[in-house]
Amino acid sequence: MSKLAIEGGEKAVRKLGPYTSKIHKEELEEVLDLWEYPAGVKNKLVAIIEKNAGRINGPHLFRYYNPRPSKVTEAENAFAKYIGAKHALAVNSCTSALIASLRALGIGMGDEVIVPAYTFFASAAVIVACNAIPVIADIDETLTLDPKDVARRITPRTKAIIVVHMRGMPARMDELMTIARERNIPVIEDVAQAAGGMYKGKMLGSIGTMGCFSFDYYKVLNSGEGGFITTNDPWLYTRAQSWHDCAACWRPNRFEAERREGELFCGENYRMSELQGAVALAQIRKAKKFLKGYRAAKKSIVKKLILPKGAQLQPVADSVGDTGICLVLFMPDVATTRRALAAMQAEGVPAGGIYDHKVKDWHIYVYWEHILDRKSVARDGLPWSGVPADQLPAYSTNMCPRSTDLLSRAIMIDIHWEFSAADCSAIAKGINKVMATI
Ligand SMILES: Cc1ncc(COP(=O)(O)O)c(C=O)c1O
Repeated sequence: MSKLAIEGGEKAVRKLGPYTSKIHKEELEEVLDLWEYPAGVKNKLVAIIEKNAGRINGPHLFRYYNPRPSKVTEAENAFAKYIGAKHALAVNSCTSALIASLRALGIGMGDEVIVPAYTFFASAAVIVACNAIPVIADIDETLTLDPKDVARRITPRTKAIIVVHMRGMPARMDELMTIARERNIPVIEDVAQAAGGMYKGKMLGSIGTMGCFSFDYYKVLNSGEGGFITTNDPWLYTRAQSWHDCAACWRPNRFEAERREGELFCGENYRMSELQGAVALAQIRKAKKFLKGYRAAKKSIVKKLILPKGAQLQPVADSVGDTGICLVLFMPDVATTRRALAAMQAEGVPAGGIYDHKVKDWHIYVYWEHILDRKSVARDGLPWSGVPADQLPAYSTNMCPRSTDLLSRAIMIDIHWEFSAADCSAIAKGINKVMATI
């Protein structure tokens, strides 16, 4: 036997690699497919990629330990700047953003969190996922939280308020922030549907304690799936990072003891991949263009509307800050709403109803049976078992009557950021034609 290398002998393994990346040209071809380029274009692109395949190594799609500049980090920097927040943390959805924010705030068993009766179910489900208790509050004509009802529902156990800027429209932030500050309750802004929106000159997501954004396919900005947390508080940012990456890859020294008590705990994995980061970055750069288009289209339609007595354009807490992604009209009663909606749709107006008691929709608390029926994922019965039964909120389908009344009389017209002047005129004409008959 030859001498061991450890004793000065010759090394058995002199050199390994270099090896190619597992992700290479084949994956890029699959990505190209998503764009649906015509076959001719795709074939040309594939030929160029093939030609360069030997010279170009594949991408590093993990944001951390990336030898190249990370697209996720670049997207975070661009988003923090756009929103006007000190920190932005990229995650894989707004649901994740909300959970990481609640966890960063230390919310857990027995805590109460206020959430509006009208929001996508995720805003309420995340509270239960943190073993806390959702307290459902009414909305007002702005379709966002009614500050008076929020004040009424605060108890000594209230540990956060989730304010949702629904359908791209800002909530009444002045009143809500005053209520929260007076009681020292943190505010999480759910900006899933309102990226780029503002309230009195401030970007949504920069006003509350933390902001949570969705980049899923249907949102103002999207990377298929994805999300961001914004905050000015470095400690909450640190704790949100801990929750979003329990592998602690985000830390300067991954295995170092916690630098301050509360920095490390058992979290999950909500990391954004470089693929999502690249798309999100390009979307953030285009945000101003999208917002300009939405706002101009909404303004153009609204200017042309002729509404009869009884019909009302939905008031917006700050119409200048409104993203403009939709336009809502309130009708005097449910029967008129149904008639007008059907008539508008027949005219080709992109209109939809919000609440029809026969159509299940997870944006309305009435259908949140997971919460109303106090369902639990495990035998422990949490979060409901964590609070004495007589201290749990009394849930029922008619607990927020103002919300269901408003939503059942609302007609929502979707706005596209590329609507032309002719599109806006045609839509306004269609609405006016129907409104003249009610
Ligand atoms: C108001 C609101 N909050 C949260 C979410 C959840 O976002 P995501 O799909 O990114 O988890 C949505 C998505 O529709 C939403 O509309």
